[in-house]
Amino acid sequence: MSAADSSPSVLLGVAGGIAAYKSVELLRRLTETGHSVRVLPTASACEFVGVATFEALSGQPVHTGVFADVPSVPHVRLGQQADLVVVAPATADLLARAAHGRADDLLTASLLTARCPVLFAPAMHTEMWEHPATRDNVALLRARGAVVMEPASGRLTGRDTGPGRLPDPAEIADLARLLLERPDALPHDLHGRRVVVSAGGTREALDPVRYLGNRSSGRQGYALARVAAQRGAAVTLVSAHTAELGDPAAVDVVRVGSARELREAMVAAVADADAVVMAAAVADFRPVVRADDKIKKGSGAPAPRALAVNPDILAELVRSRRAGQVVVGFAAETGDATGDVLHHGRAKLARKGCDLLVVNAVGDGQAFEVADNAGWLLGADGSETELMTGSKALLASRVWDAVVARL
Ligand code: CTP
Repeated sequence: MSAADSSPSVLLGVAGGIAAYKSVELLRRLTETGHSVRVLPTASACEFVGVATFEALSGQPVHTGVFADVPSVPHVRLGQQADLVVVAPATADLLARAAHGRADDLLTASLLTARCPVLFAPAMHTEMWEHPATRDNVALLRARGAVVMEPASGRLTGRDTGPGRLPDPAEIADLARLLLERPDALPHDLHGRRVVVSAGGTREALDPVRYLGNRSSGRQGYALARVAAQRGAAVTLVSAHTAELGDPAAVDVVRVGSARELREAMVAAVADADAVVMAAAVADFRPVVRADDKIKKGSGAPAPRALAVNPDILAELVRSRRAGQVVVGFAAETGDATGDVLHHGRAKLARKGCDLLVVNAVGDGQAFEVADNAGWLLGADGSETELMTGSKALLASRVWDAVVARL
């Protein structure tokens, strides 16, 4: 924590790549969410973004070398006092210098003195990212406990596309918060695993304009996909309707609308998966008939609409799962006269037959359309773990811990 107050003290390292301009948005997000941020750009980062921008937005002085403000020994003190170091963008050169313990500027010196979690968000051309030298440097940093994010794919500087884009600043901020909540939340323990996650709420069309839907924002499913990808898994995210969320970096996103489309996409994706998480809120019913034209109000009472029951996708995935595949379900419960949230959760776990069930209490501003989540994680082996209130990424990290233990 910073000396002056209890806000977490974050060092934001910025290396010299074109994505340095995005570090300004990350800085803004970190300061606005209550972090005290000291920016450490490299000299080349200052070719892309002016020192004044970093100083104004962080409210703290900005130096690149170790010879400014010498009496306060910043090259030792800043790293020692930090709760988290985030380097975004981390260029190929910065990763190389960090991996080899160089200390030729204030940022790399601080990386050597920091004992807190370190998060690198790489950005570089695909060839550089895939070069054996960079692969080795990334492996070395990960082996030492640093979190090196998988970059996003997409448009790079100029016309090329491929892996190497800086992950969205919102996503980096999300993982930064996660590491402050739980420093060991992102081990690289899903490397070599394939996982499938569903997210969002399905929509069942009544006519070309209207649908039956639900309030799921998709945030919990996206957090599960993001955390799995950053723990090394190959991830397919089957996404029904969500709030406006960016695609998580290094995740394959398949978009669907209705429950039946979701089922089809899940059945296709899970064949060779090691783990499957059904975080989507699936509509239990759909209109039997989807009107071709917009249904008119008419004059009298509305005509009743017949509903059909949708397939129970989770139950089907459990029935058809391959040996060793871990299946995780979600249960959003309010509790009622017949029992509380946990009671309904236990009954649902038994009914669905999955290996793990995340039980959330919903209603009254809980779980839906909010940033934080809490609940219980129930295991088919009888285990019951309370999931304390925290970010959806934190809950995701606990779920993946339990999955890894069962793989
Ligand atoms: N689910 C599913 N297919 C459905 C309904 C739900 O795969 N048609 C999955 C959800 O993705 C979730 C779990 O089943 O992982 C529990 O969803 P929930 O809506 O809580 O349960 P229901 O089976 O619909 O039971 P109920 O509405 O009676 O609580």
